[in-house]
Amino acid sequence: MKEIGFAKLVVFVNSIVPLLLLGWDGLRGDLGANPLEFVTHTTGTLTLVFLLISLAVTPLRKTLGQPWMIKLRRMTGLFAFFYGCLHLMTYLWFDKFFNIAEIGRDTIKRPFITLGMASFFLMLPLALTSTNKMVKRLGGRRWNRLHRLVYLAAIAGVIHYWMLVKADTRIPLAFGAVLAVLLIYRALAAFFKRRLPAQEPSENL
Ligand code: HEM
Repeated sequence: MKEIGFAKLVVFVNSIVPLLLLGWDGLRGDLGANPLEFVTHTTGTLTLVFLLISLAVTPLRKTLGQPWMIKLRRMTGLFAFFYGCLHLMTYLWFDKFFNIAEIGRDTIKRPFITLGMASFFLMLPLALTSTNKMVKRLGGRRWNRLHRLVYLAAIAGVIHYWMLVKADTRIPLAFGAVLAVLLIYRALAAFFKRRLPAQEPSENL
């Protein structure tokens, strides 16, 4: 039990460090020639990284045979949402100055913004239902079904990134490749679970 607490602390500290570094750079006025771009890119990348980490927890815990790792999934997912909120706030506040009409126009006219918004709003119900109380209220089965939205959020996030990159698409494609592996894992796990129900009746994928 103590070890899980320590693992959670390690993950928490590592997850908060990028924010501290960003804040530190901001305080020192060291955000480069275009601070808005720097903050947007950093928070966007962190959102995607944490989404993929949260998706990797289950395959890792199963392949490594470390069931306690499931305890890290909620935290990494919430960090994805947290960095997503910062990313969205950067756009709404410092890019659009909360000009609702302009934000609406941008969302309709620029497909990469539409997909970013879609990805964010797919994460919202997951964050809102992340508490133990909500898991109980929804019931495990419905909760699991709802939380499959995380895959759609990640797909939308990767396409959002791929669409906004002008020339060198290697990094968004690398994110896409990691996501593809995680999706294939999930599809195979679901397939085998259906074929061998007696072996793993109650485990979530
Ligand atoms: C909430 C709605 C969102 C809006 C309005 C939005 C908007 C933006 C904008 C304006 C940029 C910079 C574009 C440029 O430099 O030309 C950007 C970059 C990015 N966004 Fe989003 N985004 C949203 C949600 C998301 C989400 C949910 C994710 C991840 C799942 C994400 C991942 C990224 C990434 C990875 C980048 C590029 C980072 C880089 O270039 O290093 N965004 N976003």
